[in-house]
Amino acid sequence: MQKVVVSGPGKLMLFGEHAVVYGRPCIVTTVNHRLFVSVEKISEAAMRGQAQNERFSLPLNSLVIENIPKKLKFLAVTVALFAKRYPFAGGVKIYTRSQFSPLYGFGSSSAVTCAAAKALFELFEVPYEENSLFEFCFEVVTRIEGLRSGFDIAAAIYGATLFYVANPRKIEILPVTDLPMIVGYTGIKADTPSLIAQVGRLKAQKSEFVEKVFSNIETITRSARLALEEMNWEKAGALMNQNHEELKTLEISSEKLDTLVMAAQSAGAWGAKLSGAGGGDCMVALVSREKRQSVIEAIEKNGGQVIDTVINVDGVMVESNDTSHFARTALAM
Ligand code: PMV
Repeated sequence: MQKVVVSGPGKLMLFGEHAVVYGRPCIVTTVNHRLFVSVEKISEAAMRGQAQNERFSLPLNSLVIENIPKKLKFLAVTVALFAKRYPFAGGVKIYTRSQFSPLYGFGSSSAVTCAAAKALFELFEVPYEENSLFEFCFEVVTRIEGLRSGFDIAAAIYGATLFYVANPRKIEILPVTDLPMIVGYTGIKADTPSLIAQVGRLKAQKSEFVEKVFSNIETITRSARLALEEMNWEKAGALMNQNHEELKTLEISSEKLDTLVMAAQSAGAWGAKLSGAGGGDCMVALVSREKRQSVIEAIEKNGGQVIDTVINVDGVMVESNDTSHFARTALAM
């Protein structure tokens, strides 16, 4: 085999962000916007190709985190770690193509890491299981970003909608097939590592208070699991509202997120909350069919961009060994 193409899904956090970093559960779902990675063997000991419209050519022995441009970090560390653990002759040519903007907070870093890692394991015929792929990708992400829960890695690998606990690791697929959800993008890119650090500082200063908030978020997340399984959207929506209020006390929401959440609530959503690290990225709302149009209009009127999403999709998968996804990109090189 000379070339493999793998795609990975984007994700959205539904409940439990931040608390999940400290051992509490979260609920994450995957979305139908995918990121594609094509990996091909080459004779030269280099990693070259194109990602996010940027061409690159880096000798394999130069892949040290500090030297790598930000846009390429996840790809390069994935390749470097793979080459260290499973040495191979020559190098790799890599192209990526995404159906979603890296600004949305849909997890482009985890999707690119998991898709590239799976492609490498396949291409070099190294046996692996979902669990070992998880450990590998989690190591890549924590080397780059430090403290993370790994919920996004789990989503990219296992797909579907997951109840996730980081430590001790628990990944359960929830029987959620449908979710009447609207996703609103704030237009602002969040910086997840600095928001995690911010919560870490708050926790160091007010440990009892933050533990109490995490404990409330855990109760909300566990109730939300039942509500989602019972398809009790009204209850799940009310829990989203509560989760948003708890996150506000951690000071990681933003004016824009609060405005969009309130707009959705006032327009009749069952509930709404920020999704992910906070600071920007997306908010989500649970909405009945009758209220859907008014909630969309309310989000747009307040400066949000509604992103059409279908949830609960497959995790990383081999697309084909030579697909038209990259034919155009390859021709353009
Ligand atoms: O910014 P996102 O969508 O990757 O979400 C971050 C969620 C956190 O709980 C804050 C961090 C984590 O690793 O779980």
